[in-house]
This record gives sequence, structure tokens and C-alpha cells, in this order.
Amino acid sequence: MTDFAAGAAPPRTAPQENTVWNGKLVRHSAASRVIHWTVALFFFLALFTGMPIWSPIFSWMGNLMGGLHVCRWLHPWVACAFFVATIVMWTHWHADMKMTEADRGWFGPKLIEYLKFSGEDPNVGKYNGGQKLFFWFALLDAILLLLTGIVLWFSTSFGAGLREASILLHDVAFILFGVAIVAHIYLGTAAEPGTFTAMSRGTVSKAWARLHHGKWYREVTGEEKRR
Ligand code: HEM
Repeated sequence: MTDFAAGAAPPRTAPQENTVWNGKLVRHSAASRVIHWTVALFFFLALFTGMPIWSPIFSWMGNLMGGLHVCRWLHPWVACAFFVATIVMWTHWHADMKMTEADRGWFGPKLIEYLKFSGEDPNVGKYNGGQKLFFWFALLDAILLLLTGIVLWFSTSFGAGLREASILLHDVAFILFGVAIVAHIYLGTAAEPGTFTAMSRGTVSKAWARLHHGKWYREVTGEEKRR
């Protein structure tokens, strides 16, 4: 445990992840946050350039991006950047995202309690089962989007069957991503107050950590389980 609030001078370097710093728990280093927001930036650029190509209903997004012709040119490039950023995020976070038996057990009555805000599992580590699932889903869906996107980008190089399957799968993949991101943003902001600072300032309050990630809280602070 490292508690720089307890009198010792804080380090000159950026606070280390999984330490106590100025009375808060450091959840995400600056590097983690830059990676996360780079993924998010390219995700939304890919979304805003892709939706107008998908349907004229979203032509207003195309106007924001400079017109449909700009979107058609830009979309594959920002989508590739999104994929690269996702891979960087995967290399950075995958060690923390391994599914354990306890995580699998979380997808039952505990998940219902969590969604109803009626109870929290005190044995949740740094990430709960749902966060880990979202992480792996984001990786797999990004791979699916890339593979089907390449077929659409170089469509004349592929047969009609593969082209049609890719159109369908690309649409299904981005709709699933859209739904997952809406849930992710809701849970990271309005639904769970105190979570957003994890990705803005990198820190969370002790009360937040104790409530949502009890096992991680105890590991970082060294405090014994409260009974
Ligand atoms: C405006 C949009 C977004 C907001 C407000 C947001 C917010 C957050 C917050 C607050 C966390 C930290 C949660 C924690 O430490 O417990 C987080 C984690 C994460 N974010 Fe985002 N995020 C956004 C967009 C995205 C996008 C576009 C992706 C991927 C395509 C993404 C992928 C992740 C992943 C994989 C994690 C770690 C697992 C998790 O906490 O769910 N985020 N995000």
C-alpha cells in the first residue's frame, strides 16, 4: 500500500495506478486514459463518417464531417486508426481483464442486483464481470468490423457472396457496438456517479472503490474486509 496522503511528499512523477494518492485511489494512469480517449475519439469519428454512408437519415452527421464524399474517403482510415488504438488498449489492459470463476458467477443474481442498484458484491476486483465482458466484446467486434470493412473497402477484389455477407455483418457489428457503447457511457457517467473521474482525473474516491470494487479497494489500501 502506498498512501502519499499520510504525510509523505507525493512523488514528482505521475501517480502510479493502484495506489492511494491525496486521499483518492489511482485507478487509471495517464497512459491508460490517453489510450482510452484515443479509442473513443476514433470510434466516434468512424461512427460519424460511417452512419451517413449507411443511411441518408444520418446525412447531418455527414455535413458535420464535410460531406458524404469526405465520409466515404475518411471512414476506412479513421476505422483503421480505431482498430490500431483498440489493439493498443488490448495490450495495455488484457492482463487485468482475464475472466475468473468469480467473474462468471457475477452474471447471475449479482448482475440483476447491480443493475437494480440494490446490492454490490464485496469481492469484485478492479473490474467486474460486465466490464471484462465489454472489453473482450470491444476487441472481437473491432476485429469483425475490420475484416468485413476490408472486404467493403476493396469490394471488387472479392466475390458477391462474401461482399453481401460482409455488408450484413458490418452492419450487425456496428449496431451491437452502438448499443454496447450507449450502455457503457451510461454506466460510466449518470448511472454510477463518481465513475467518470476514473477516466478524467484518473482517481476515484475511497467510498466509490469500497462500494463498487471492494476487493480492489482492500488490495490497494491494505484495509481489512469490513463486516
Ligand atoms: C464518451 C464516451 C465514453 C465515456 C464517457 C467512457 C467512460 C469510461 C469510464 C469512466 C471508464 C472507467 C470505468 C472504471 O474505471 O471502472 C471507462 C472504461 C473503459 N472504456 Fe470507456 N468511455 C467512453 C467511450 C469508450 C469507447 C468508444 C470504448 C471502446 C470502443 C471504450 C472502452 C472502454 C473499456 C474497454 C473500458 C474498461 C472496461 C470498463 O470499465 O468498462 N470507452 N470508460
